[in-house]
Amino acid sequence: MSSITLIGTGNMARAIGTLAVAGGNTVEVMGRDQAKADDLAKALGGGTTTGEWGAVPAGDIVITALLYDGVVPVVAQYGDALAGKVIVDISNPFNATFDGLAHSEETSVAQEAAKVAPAGASVVKAFNTIFRNVLENGRPNVFMAGDSGQAKADVATFVESLGLRPLDVGGLKMAHWLEGMGLVTVGLAQEGVGHWDFALGVDEFAG
Ligand SMILES: NC(=O)c1ccc[n+]([C@@H]2O[C@H](COP(=O)([O-])OP(=O)(O)OC[C@H]3O[C@@H](n4cnc5c(N)ncnc54)[C@H](OP(=O)(O)O)[C@@H]3O)[C@@H](O)[C@H]2O)c1
Repeated sequence: MSSITLIGTGNMARAIGTLAVAGGNTVEVMGRDQAKADDLAKALGGGTTTGEWGAVPAGDIVITALLYDGVVPVVAQYGDALAGKVIVDISNPFNATFDGLAHSEETSVAQEAAKVAPAGASVVKAFNTIFRNVLENGRPNVFMAGDSGQAKADVATFVESLGLRPLDVGGLKMAHWLEGMGLVTVGLAQEGVGHWDFALGVDEFAG
């Protein structure tokens, strides 16, 4: 089992936290609003604790469940408190019209977070292609990208504890394309699929 810290107290923190507790993991919540962190920890139960904003997280895996424009500043603010941690960026940096990414260059929030993360920390992009309601009700595949094989193995162990299938898509530069997959998923919800109760996955065909 894994020890995780959720930085953020919103919808995705609640959805991932609920699965994490059910999967027998040790969970800590940190929020810039301590009252929200306390409320979420209480709602998650299972011995979930809260930590002080900006302090060293108790979890070995730190999930930044923040709006995309908060991720890099918060990783920078935590600074050395994240040394040695596996930082999981779940964000979707969509533009205002949901038909492009907020950053125009071929980068990603995860790659930018890695630039400000302390030495010894590893950033993994994961979970961003999965709608919260699917996490609550389904068993989607979890795509992940990162440069550290050990960090991805740690995240894969955590994902498997949730009853989900981790799928490695490559190095951290692939996080840009996972963010693009997030856009594709929204496009499918609005057009081809026509609802939000699905996730992108992998079908394998033999022969
Ligand atoms: N919802 C989904 O279906 C879904 C699916 C895949 C990926 N994602 C991604 O997951 C992330 C979280 O989404 P969500 O639905 O959980 O959003 P949410 O419910 O709005 O929660 C956002 C959280 O981020 C915190 N936050 C925002 N800006 C911050 C900043 N600058 N500094 C510190 N904390 C900040 C908020 O704190 P306060 O409450 O104090 O404002 C809140 O705890 C987003 O990046 C989103 O793109 C969401």
